[in-house]
Amino acid sequence: MLIKKSSDIFSSEITPEALWQNRRQFLQSTGLAMGLSALPFKSFAQSNITLQKLSSVKSKYVTMEKITPFESATTYNNYYEFGTDKADPAKKAGTLISRPWTVTLEGACNKPHTIGIEELLRLAPLEERIYRLRCVEGWSMVIPWLGFSLSELIKRAEPTGNAKFVEFITLADPKQMPNLKSSVLEWPYVEALRMDEAMHPLTLLSLGSYGQTLTNQSGAPVRIVVPWKYGFKSGKSIVKIRFVEKQPKTSWEKAGPSEYGFYSNVNPAVDHPRWSQATERRIDASSTGINAFLTPKRKTLMFNGYEEVASLYTGMDLRKFF
Ligand code: MTE
Repeated sequence: MLIKKSSDIFSSEITPEALWQNRRQFLQSTGLAMGLSALPFKSFAQSNITLQKLSSVKSKYVTMEKITPFESATTYNNYYEFGTDKADPAKKAGTLISRPWTVTLEGACNKPHTIGIEELLRLAPLEERIYRLRCVEGWSMVIPWLGFSLSELIKRAEPTGNAKFVEFITLADPKQMPNLKSSVLEWPYVEALRMDEAMHPLTLLSLGSYGQTLTNQSGAPVRIVVPWKYGFKSGKSIVKIRFVEKQPKTSWEKAGPSEYGFYSNVNPAVDHPRWSQATERRIDASSTGINAFLTPKRKTLMFNGYEEVASLYTGMDLRKFF
């Protein structure tokens, strides 16, 4: 993000074949009514990962907007541990080993513990939540995530009164992640939320998307999704959740404190120092390459349209706390 000019934003190519044109097709093709499939299937020619179908329950958190095609959502990514080009994660994240996997909860809590990915998958019913995700660079997607409120996991650790913030620490293994040799960011990639933000029901612990486990480039096997904040707050491939008293410094704040604030709520009224945040382009199969410039811009909504979180920021100057 820091190193991209706005003119570069839509330069990557996305396979034009749309597998996921709209919600109806999506439901038909994933067969969401089905239970956990015994037959994992491969979906990427370019990676060796095996995706597993996941069952889910209905969620009240759905937008009826057109879902971003699966192919677009998984070939136009930010996952800097695998490179800074939007196409890098799909090409290079095949080396990420997402099983076995554990997440450790530690810090200011009564019950610090480590939980394995299989137990995490059973912790609460997986909901299919269709969220908008708005990237700070000016593009957005609509993704059918599978997961449950992060609060379900946090509650198990019994945070103490000193837990004012929650830090998300992601995997940093140079053997699996070729771009850790670069100093584009400080590794591991760290993100954080205020405790009440982390406990908000909209904050999702995601274990899948598009009816199946997460692709590596999407942050397998477990990531956070905070739909009212710019996409970089949604850390991928989480290994530690730490409860802390002081506001942590995140990787992007360290890289560019004047550009990437701690809160990073989607806010059309507060420009990024190098570009406006008033509008965005919705990524779909036809919005890449030269077509990117033909895709009409749409107005960015305050809190990405998730107005129910506004009360978390009552009395705060959102220009100062950007
Ligand atoms: N998590 C890690 N570990 N590394 C990253 O580089 N990029 C962030 C976020 N999570 C990133 C990350 C950014 S900048 C964005 S916009 C979103 O992931 C992109 O998520 P997507 O690729 O699923 O659209």
